[in-house]
Amino acid sequence: MIGGKTKLFGLVGHPVAHVRTPQAMNALFEQNGLDAVMVPFDVPPADLSGALGGLLRIGNFEGAVVTVPHKMAVLELCRDLTPRARLAGAVNVLRRVGEDAFAGDILDGEGFVAGLTTAGHSVAGRRICIVGAGGAASAIAVALAEREPARLTLINRSRERLLALHERLASRFGELDVGIGEDVGGHDLVVNATSLGLRADDPLPFDPERVGPGVLVAEVIMTPEITPILHAATGRGAAIHPGRAMLDGQLEAIFRYFSADGRIGRRQA
Ligand SMILES: NC(=O)c1ccc[n+]([C@@H]2O[C@H](COP(=O)([O-])OP(=O)(O)OC[C@H]3O[C@@H](n4cnc5c(N)ncnc54)[C@H](OP(=O)(O)O)[C@@H]3O)[C@@H](O)[C@H]2O)c1
Repeated sequence: MIGGKTKLFGLVGHPVAHVRTPQAMNALFEQNGLDAVMVPFDVPPADLSGALGGLLRIGNFEGAVVTVPHKMAVLELCRDLTPRARLAGAVNVLRRVGEDAFAGDILDGEGFVAGLTTAGHSVAGRRICIVGAGGAASAIAVALAEREPARLTLINRSRERLLALHERLASRFGELDVGIGEDVGGHDLVVNATSLGLRADDPLPFDPERVGPGVLVAEVIMTPEITPILHAATGRGAAIHPGRAMLDGQLEAIFRYFSADGRIGRRQA
């Protein structure tokens, strides 16, 4: 039951009709007997700063999950950032610090790796190609780079974002073989980390003829569960890893981030 001591959390995105994180977080709050609730907030890009500023003025507002298209823009609205959020250039969780500021972290990459691990797939020593250079791709790239792959190749439509991500990774992981490419062929793990596949008329994010048996094709898109590129990859004999695993992999991490330091009280019986 929501009461006067309930802590408020938001999911800030645009649009938000399809989101699933609030349902999952509310179930975790309930299961753990914590007095908190998460509500989706549909915030257009032009209103992001004003909306977050307003939320900080609400005394029992504690934090938010941040999703498309705000993950990069929200970075500059945070007073404190973790090193991995700085490196990824993106934030997907905010926590109130004091009266008037937010701390930010990015858990997307950890969620992606946790999903792979749960499904029995390893990262160390593998040749990995990431297609995309937005918020999700950057977070995944940082988390994978930390796990010592044999090689990391980055591909993206816009050159500017691609070069910026490459530069950040190359300067932080000097020992890592990180490059820019155009062909997903020659890799053990290929990740679609673009938003292509969400809409029925989207083009494929890469040429499926370049994958085959022995290759794992992983996805970030959650709906549909089997995206056109996963379908095509299966037809080529490749193994597949749907996008839902990434969210499942990070729900626990988001819950821990929000409930750390006993900041949420227990629900009254
Ligand atoms: N499964 C999960 O738990 C999870 C978690 C986070 C995100 N996601 C999903 O990941 C997707 C990407 O999110 P994001 O935050 O990274 O978004 P973003 O920052 O907007 O990045 C979108 C990426 O897709 C590329 N792209 C978009 N349209 C394209 C097109 N027509 N042709 C080629 N490339 C195109 C962009 O390339 P440019 O740089 O050239 O624009 C960019 O690399 C979203 O669909 C989101 O729902 C899933």
